[in-house]
Parts: sequence; C-alpha cells; structure tokens
Amino acid sequence: MTILAIIGGTGLSQLAALNTTRTESIETPYGKPSADFVIGEIANKEVIFLARHGNLHAILPHKINYRANIWALKKLGVENIIAVAAVGGITAQMTPASLAIPDQIIDYTYSREHTFFDGEDGNVTHIDFTYPYSQKLRAALITAATTANLQISPIGTYGCTQGPRLESAAEITRMERDGCDLVGMTGMPEASLAKEIGLNYAALAVMANWGAGKTAGEITMAEIEENLHHGMANAGKLLQAFIAAY
Ligand code: HPA
Repeated sequence: MTILAIIGGTGLSQLAALNTTRTESIETPYGKPSADFVIGEIANKEVIFLARHGNLHAILPHKINYRANIWALKKLGVENIIAVAAVGGITAQMTPASLAIPDQIIDYTYSREHTFFDGEDGNVTHIDFTYPYSQKLRAALITAATTANLQISPIGTYGCTQGPRLESAAEITRMERDGCDLVGMTGMPEASLAKEIGLNYAALAVMANWGAGKTAGEITMAEIEENLHHGMANAGKLLQAFIAAY
C-alpha cells in the first residue's frame, strides 16, 4: 500500500487519532525539515505526520524549509500528501470555519526557495503545473466529505501570499478579480515541489476568517482561533473518513 503523509498547518500541529509508533529525524541536502516526522497508524493504515510550522508553531510561512520537508517525505517512501492549511475566505461560499478542496493555485509569493530544479546539474527542467493538485486525491477527499456528512467547497482557487502579514483590503479585492477564492501563505511552493519530485498532493483548506475588507473592521486573532477550532474538528472528521477508505 502507498504511504500517506499529512502535513498539518496552523490549528493542526498534531494528529490526535494517530497511534504513534516512532518518530524520524531526517537530514536533507536542503537542511532540516520543520520537525521530526511522526509515524504511526490510523485505522490500520500507515500515516506520517509533519507539523509544517514546527512542533512549537514557531516557523513563519516564508521561513518554512519547504524543500527539506518535501524531499524528506519522498525519502520516507511517501506517495500521497494531504496538506491541511488554514486560509482566509474570499468568495461567498468560503464562509468562516468551512472546508474547501482547492483545484487551482495562483502564486503571489517571492524570495522563497521554491524548486529542486536549480539547473546546477546542467539540466533545464520545466514541470507541467496545469493541474497543481492530484485529481485522484481531491476526488477521494470529496468522497470522504460526503461519507463524513460534511458540506464542503469541492473546488476553489488558492491564492498564496508571502505573509507573514495578512493582506490589505485592496490586495484581497485584486485577488478576487484575479479569480482567487481563498488565500493562504503556505500552499506554495509546497504544491509545486511535491509535483517536481513526483508526489501526489492535495490540500484541505480550513477557513479561519474572511479575507481583509470582506467584513467591517480588522481581522482578529480571536476570530481566527474560534473558526479554526470548529473547522479543524471537521477537517479531522474528513481525514478520518479519507484514511478509513484509503
Ligand atoms: N490571509 C492569508 N493567510 C491566511 C489568512 C488570510 O486571511 N487566514 C489564515 N491564513
């Protein structure tokens, strides 16, 4: 059976359902991953968990060593990655605490180490990125949502911003014009690195807040925490159904 990895983001720094059997610390040519890999089983399926922001949630989105994280997962024999991510909602259906399985990406990040193909080996490699996410994994996540009786958004364009600040209202307006449905800070280059190295990758996005300017006033940490609390509980149920059927 193919090995599954779950990368947890803000609001999901450990997997409660995981019966841990061991942890692995991996060195990579790109340096250290965000944390040790926690390996165990859920519903008799082997699952590897990585806390994207580190165990103490101290690594900022632009400082995450995405290359080390993805390279190490490949080394561990992983084939499929589900990336859980807290995001802001932009379009109407992306209500706080709801879940989405995005199908497209627009990348607004800069200055991140974003590729395994730096050309240092003399090769010029361009990967296809027409469909940034694995359609097979997305379909399985959507089915799991139905099994778990959860209403989710089955598509959406994820706009990835540099952070760590949230966006201005005008930036969110521009992103909406661009076609973004949700906004996060960690989806890239995670998705493209996975694709470069031949791993199947899909994202499960949890709405933490409305994007800037979508409501009156400013975005507060209190509302983010409250929405993530509810949203991550549902994300856990969806993952449970996904893994049971894996
Ligand atoms: N913008 C970017 N990233 C986020 C947001 C947001 O509004 N909420 C949670 N992650």
